[in-house]
Amino acid sequence: LRRVASTGEFHIGVIGGSGLYDPGALDDAQEIAVSSAFGEASGPVVTGRMGGRRFTFIARHGQGHRLSPSHVNYRANIDVLKRCGVTDVLAVSAIGSLREEYAPGDFVVVDQLIDRTAGVRERSFFGEGIVAHVPLADPVCPRLSAFAAAAADRAGARVHRGATYVAIEGPQFSTRAESLLYREWGAHVIGMTAMPEARLAREAELPYALVGMVTDYDCWRDAGADVDVAQILQTMAANADTARAMLAELGAASPAHRDASPIDRVLDTAIVTARDHWP
Ligand code: ADE
Repeated sequence: LRRVASTGEFHIGVIGGSGLYDPGALDDAQEIAVSSAFGEASGPVVTGRMGGRRFTFIARHGQGHRLSPSHVNYRANIDVLKRCGVTDVLAVSAIGSLREEYAPGDFVVVDQLIDRTAGVRERSFFGEGIVAHVPLADPVCPRLSAFAAAAADRAGARVHRGATYVAIEGPQFSTRAESLLYREWGAHVIGMTAMPEARLAREAELPYALVGMVTDYDCWRDAGADVDVAQILQTMAANADTARAMLAELGAASPAHRDASPIDRVLDTAIVTARDHWP
């Protein structure tokens, strides 16, 4: 990972579904091949401008949705975005709702994360000769979250701000007992991908925000009801236009000049290995 000299402009990296950008809405769209020292990214990277702002997209599950949440190479995806000069990362994902008031079709701008992934996903860029402990108390960027929430409002979505997301390993959905437990923990929504993505973005000094699109009520709500992929895909398809409109609004409304974020230099105080011992 290398710091890229900033031009002082926003350059938003978007990790989401493959249908998330409208190629027609992207000026100067280009597909670029970027390799990573951390292996294969999920797929090709597409960069272009909307509303004058630069966006670079990567489809988290690869073209045709071939990668399960456990097999996404989160490190390579973040590394590739960093190498492209992205300044901020916006994750867009399908989520289940753990609260009555978050209905399918609603957009949720998450501000806290609980990691219930199984520990098999690579979750750090460090550890082989260089030890770093980055702070993660507030895992998402309030500035990018506020821009994304305002953009989702303008796109016509019903938007909830400030939710706690529990990340599960999957690929199976949760048991009813787990779903009820996550509600007791104070979680509002559930998904399978925000961790370790948010951890790695922090280590890469990239402010991270997450907009979830509610696709289902998980299984806590109706005795006997289960989560159903067909319903999830249908809700996703019905909201794809709103998600694309949100990104166009984000481009149109984010300021031309990007003020520095404290995350831009978080490693200055996080690396504990003495410099003369770096590999
Ligand atoms: N993604 C969408 N719905 C979900 C659910 N109920 N649990 C985990 N991930 C999800």
